[in-house]
Amino acid sequence: MIVGTSMDAALFVTAKEAMEKAYAPYSNFAVGAAVRGADGGLYGGCNVENAAYPQGCCAEASAISAMVMDGETSIVEVCVIGGGDALVTPCGGCRQRIREFAADDIPIHVCGPEGLRQTLTLGELLPLSFGPENLSGEES
Ligand code: THU
Repeated sequence: MIVGTSMDAALFVTAKEAMEKAYAPYSNFAVGAAVRGADGGLYGGCNVENAAYPQGCCAEASAISAMVMDGETSIVEVCVIGGGDALVTPCGGCRQRIREFAADDIPIHVCGPEGLRQTLTLGELLPLSFGPENLSGEES
């Protein structure tokens, strides 16, 4: 099923390769994510679960950590991949994690292993969001 706009193949491959590394022995639900930094770098991440369940980490959080470790703090595009029939949109917490580093209009590509399913903007997924600008007094 292809329902969205186009998506760069390298971004998809980064997310898919990350999904294949997921550590998800409790949910058996592997998720991969990739973020593109403003400088063009691609950063992948997978979900990493834990026997103490709340300590698990989402794929998006892993990808953002890899990005920040590389010195990048601006996200211009995101890809998330998961299995099943339902859209694997970023969870609420991850929408806010992305928001920390991204503007409302960036595309978030929601994919299955077969490819793109739907593209949404961050603003569609997290309307009227609170971000760093709120603390600095700047306009978003
Ligand atoms: N998961 C993610 O990695 N990203 C999301 O945005 C949705 C959920 C993971 C967390 C958990 O390891 C598994 O999917 C099932 O919830």
